[in-house]
Amino acid sequence: METGMEFKNIGLRGVVVASTNIGDVDGSAGRLVYRGYLIKDLSGKASFEEVVHLLLNEILPTRDQNKAFSAQLAAERAVPAELIAALKTRPNSALPMDILQASASMLAHHDPEVEDPSREASHRKAIRLIAKFATVVAAWERIRNGQEPIDPDPNLSHAANFLYMMKGEVPDEDIAGFFDAALVMHAEHGFNASTFAAREIASTRAHMYAAVAGAVGSLSGELHGGANTRVMEMLMDIGSPEKVESYVKEQFDAGQRIMGLGHAVYKVDDPRALILAPMSKTVGERFGESKWYEMSALLEKVAKEEFKKRKNRDIYTNVDFYSASLYYMMGIPMDQFTPIFAIARIAGWTAHIIEEQFAEAAPKPMLYRPESDYVGDYCGPEVCEFVPMEDR
Ligand SMILES: CC(C)(COP(=O)(O)OP(=O)(O)OC[C@H]1O[C@@H](n2cnc3c(N)ncnc32)[C@H](O)[C@@H]1OP(=O)(O)O)[C@@H](O)C(=O)NCCC(=O)NCCS
Repeated sequence: METGMEFKNIGLRGVVVASTNIGDVDGSAGRLVYRGYLIKDLSGKASFEEVVHLLLNEILPTRDQNKAFSAQLAAERAVPAELIAALKTRPNSALPMDILQASASMLAHHDPEVEDPSREASHRKAIRLIAKFATVVAAWERIRNGQEPIDPDPNLSHAANFLYMMKGEVPDEDIAGFFDAALVMHAEHGFNASTFAAREIASTRAHMYAAVAGAVGSLSGELHGGANTRVMEMLMDIGSPEKVESYVKEQFDAGQRIMGLGHAVYKVDDPRALILAPMSKTVGERFGESKWYEMSALLEKVAKEEFKKRKNRDIYTNVDFYSASLYYMMGIPMDQFTPIFAIARIAGWTAHIIEEQFAEAAPKPMLYRPESDYVGDYCGPEVCEFVPMEDR
């Protein structure tokens, strides 16, 4: 645009908008930390329930605390019958993220504490949302396929129960374990777009469900959580390893992005991608579907080389690159990958909403209100003169 004006949109890159005790993303070291713990020490070692406890209660639970906390979460899994009835009225073609966003608002209608401003009530609401989100996603999968939703099984872990409610079969231990590790890896990620959206909404003193509904909307976009679905669509489009190279070149020639590559903060490999890649390989070997991992690994290599050649800088895989093939091989429908991201990230969102509401890392709660630079018209040096409708 040739206007002589300087336009700005820095996407808030590098701007520190608030302090937090919850998570740290160190983009140059490739380090992700949840309340002081490295992701590589948590994923596959601590369960999703333990990590939710860590995020919400600031400490890893003892054995007894974990038992009690897991039972508390399991007891909150059921969703109101009215919500299930409402979902049954939705067209099958409704996007799963839209269903989840609407459900976040509908769950508010059934929470008697929705407007209770106390910290204790916020903590209870967080537990309810974390527990119920998984049930909503699984229920929608059944409903849109003309099946009855499956009641949660309180004897199963959060991860195993989700797969059971979605697919109707209790997963074996290994698959439940991989899924649990994936949930842990997606639970928190500092001031990413959806968490920032949640905090911004919470800063207005809107309630937790409103903040979460906004966060779901933010996550749905393909530059954020929606990328995992796009990665799988891309792998399917490519179809076979021989076509990877030409696909990458065509994409770059057309100025298109390769989904699952690049990150606003990481300037090295995303530590979660480093854990997810071998998981995708193992699950592929187990199901005799190594093709997806192999294509992904080749695509990563070729795209990194091509990017370097064309732009003279490096690009790296992000969390969505290998989680896509992992979920696909677990039999999860592609358009449910992003809702699955949400059923994990709800843990981080709610922890951040509470931190924002109660100024737990700030001197006092503050409404977010950035400024913009007006580059519009004034019809000359002064303001525009208003002309009544009849004289225009
Ligand atoms: C996530 C993302 C928005 C971060 O972008 P960013 O690096 O902060 O900043 P920009 O969007 O300005 O991109 C910087 C440059 O890298 C290029 N680039 C970034 N990601 C790219 C990708 N996935 N494929 C090809 N080129 C990419 C951009 O075209 C841009 O090039 P230019 O400077 O020549 O215009 C971006 O990497 C992206 O769109 N990735 C694909 C979607 C995705 O996987 N999202 C999930 C993120 S966890």
